[in-house]
Amino acid sequence: MRFRMDQLISSFSTGLDAVEKTYLGASTNHGKRIAILNVKMGQYMGWSKEDLIGLSICALLHDNALTEYLLSEKPGPKQAWNMKTHCVLGEENVTCLPFPADTEGFILYHHEHADGTGAFGIKVHDIPLGAQFIAITDMVDVTKHLGTQRQNSLEDITRCITDNWGTRFTPAAADALQSILSKDVLDQLHDENVDSFYKEVVPQWILDVPASKTMPIANLLGKIIDYKSPFTAKHTDQIANRAYIMSRYYGMDDETCAKVFFAASLHDLGKLMIPTEILEKNGKLDDKEFEIIKSHVAWSYTLLKDIEGFDEICRWAVTHHRKLNGTGYPDLPESYFPLDFVSRLMACIDIYQAVREARPYHPGRTHEETINIMQNMVNKGEIDKQITQDMDQAMAVFKEDDGYVPSPMQMYQQ
Ligand SMILES: [Fe+2]
Ligand SMILES: [Fe+2]
Ligand SMILES: [Fe+2]
Ligand SMILES: [Fe+2]
Repeated sequence: MRFRMDQLISSFSTGLDAVEKTYLGASTNHGKRIAILNVKMGQYMGWSKEDLIGLSICALLHDNALTEYLLSEKPGPKQAWNMKTHCVLGEENVTCLPFPADTEGFILYHHEHADGTGAFGIKVHDIPLGAQFIAITDMVDVTKHLGTQRQNSLEDITRCITDNWGTRFTPAAADALQSILSKDVLDQLHDENVDSFYKEVVPQWILDVPASKTMPIANLLGKIIDYKSPFTAKHTDQIANRAYIMSRYYGMDDETCAKVFFAASLHDLGKLMIPTEILEKNGKLDDKEFEIIKSHVAWSYTLLKDIEGFDEICRWAVTHHRKLNGTGYPDLPESYFPLDFVSRLMACIDIYQAVREARPYHPGRTHEETINIMQNMVNKGEIDKQITQDMDQAMAVFKEDDGYVPSPMQMYQQ
């Protein structure tokens, strides 16, 4: 499978920004801005293209474990956060990415301070340079709002760097950031310019690997999406596993099976953009809230449509709420219709899983109850009849344990 990994991670970081915005006050395009600054600082230090790729990806994913931390440790609104946890989990998560250079510790130590007062209390020379860069750019972007700030920002940021030199910021990171900043760079970091600046500065990472090697990556991204809400905490995981089983059931080749798994893992990517209070509302949604929920697939489309090498994955990820009779959402290009086989399969799998799992507004249902509900939808011309029958057969194997389907990476690859 060959695709632009840098574009995928940068799209994914837009979703992470929305999460970081809610909890830490980061702003839109936060991930992209700190990736740009990190690459420029790496270039200033004479780093290789491979090193810059590793650094930019870690910058984009520095808070990948934020949802995971919030869900696992549930810190109360007034409780101090345990800053270590998301660093440990985040570093562990990215080990499945086939980085072209050593990035060890870049995410683990992104909350360290030069004087040893950070999350793990380690001091300047023990903090990897990449982590020093991420730490300083993260703080400067969150506190100085580089996406929107206009007046006196260069002087203001320079003062911030000088004030924290050698205490919060390490001398090497402070010097690198100071050296690459200019009025022009700050102007290019504004929200209206940042996309073209990103393309110009951040190196491409084209991944060309056997299909099976992409599955842990898909799995990681799906896991981050699932952690956004406890009510759907296994939704993506189970859909991806079911999608893989169904693609094997239909005898698809390894590459296609991996693509189906990837598409399933990203199908609800846009949920990262939806406010948690709406996702978790324990009661009936009003019309406006329902429209916001529905916009998750339009977001998935926006985030996936321009990734090179992802044409089929995007198509299969974003059609799961479209019905055969032309109803459903979102609006998509004409070329997406009529819905192809995998798109119809994805719609059936999404419905099967959503009906089967417990939600705030309905209990989990049995396999038979689920297939009955789907059969009614077949009768209304909404979903595929043959696929529903095939799922009745293929999913019946997983009737026990609330229908839980284990990971195909365990089932097929050892
Ligand atoms: Fe963080
Ligand atoms: Fe951040
Ligand atoms: Fe969805
Ligand atoms: Fe879904």
